[in-house]
Amino acid sequence: MLPDSVARLFPPTVRDALVALRRDLHEHPELSFHEHRTCERLEAALAAVAPVRLDRVAGTGLVARIRGRDPNAPLVAIRGDIDALPIQEATGLPFASRTPNVMHACGHDVHAAWAVGAAHALAQTPAAGDVLVVLQPAEETGRGAAAVLESGALDDVRAIFGGHVDRRFAVGQVVADAGPLAASADVFEIELTGRGGHGARPQEGADPIVGAGALVGALQTIVSRRLDPARAAVVTVGAIHAGSAPNIIPDRAVLQGTLRATDPDTRQALHDELRKIAGGVAATYGLSARVTIDQGPPPIVNPADAAAWARTATVVVLGQEALVPLGTINMGGEDFAYYMERIPGCFLRIGAREEGAEPIPAHSSKFYAAEESLFVGAAVLAETARVASKALAAGA
Ligand code: NI
Repeated sequence: MLPDSVARLFPPTVRDALVALRRDLHEHPELSFHEHRTCERLEAALAAVAPVRLDRVAGTGLVARIRGRDPNAPLVAIRGDIDALPIQEATGLPFASRTPNVMHACGHDVHAAWAVGAAHALAQTPAAGDVLVVLQPAEETGRGAAAVLESGALDDVRAIFGGHVDRRFAVGQVVADAGPLAASADVFEIELTGRGGHGARPQEGADPIVGAGALVGALQTIVSRRLDPARAAVVTVGAIHAGSAPNIIPDRAVLQGTLRATDPDTRQALHDELRKIAGGVAATYGLSARVTIDQGPPPIVNPADAAAWARTATVVVLGQEALVPLGTINMGGEDFAYYMERIPGCFLRIGAREEGAEPIPAHSSKFYAAEESLFVGAAVLAETARVASKALAAGA
């Protein structure tokens, strides 16, 4: 159920338009950096909100500038991501995806719509300074935020805010904790090279499969033996490729996996220990190891002051009881982290489960966000921008 305090902020015609926009985006999902129709649809929706300045960024992204009361006050930004995932939808929704194997399984249809809703709210009740509403492509591939930053569109932004729908929380609940909110997500590949030969005469070769087996076990000791148990981290080997026949020792084995951490020191320790153990195990088995680590988004750690702005805004919009703790640390990655490397800000989790309904994990073929979460996200993000803008203007 939509809380009355939020419903009041959006007249019925605006509410209907936002719901229609969300359903339309959900019905026509597009993959990362291919959000052409999505971008055009959002461009039209933003243009209808108010006479805002609109710029295309990062190919299929948009930045709308909503005027504040004072053109010289510090600039604040709100971000909504807009891309979908390569999944065949199985929600059974009347507005389910019409595109085979593409689906809004992460709720970015709602994030895009709530960004437009926030633009509406900020046009009605402006912040102290201008607010940029950023509609970002390609979050799922971890490339979109970096592309938006490269465009220079956010160069003057002093604080940035975003959020994610989350069906672990009910509509009307908001997580705006200071501290770790999302993990770094780096991908590694270890190529073990040995000397192939006959499976019956292993002494003539150097077996990379035995080395790979030992390495999978040894890598688990990074988290269990090398890191502070109080710090969250994950090492997962998700793929191993080696061999072609039962009686042949291959030349190579390749392991691929993901590394997750919620603070920069632990992240670096994961990289260092991975390289050390790969080299050590390889040497033990007469192999050589080539390690590559493809860095994904860094962790999101909400700073205390920006989180306090978001908490204040949440209480203004929904009351004190709306604020709930994250609980279990989230080891998922989120490319909003790239903004926060350069710009202070806060990332929120916005409850998106209907009363009594199932949690349904994101990235599942059955995932969708409760429609009402759209208005909660719009209202909370708009108010967060106002609170931050006011605080920054006072301090400027
Ligand atoms: Ni997502």
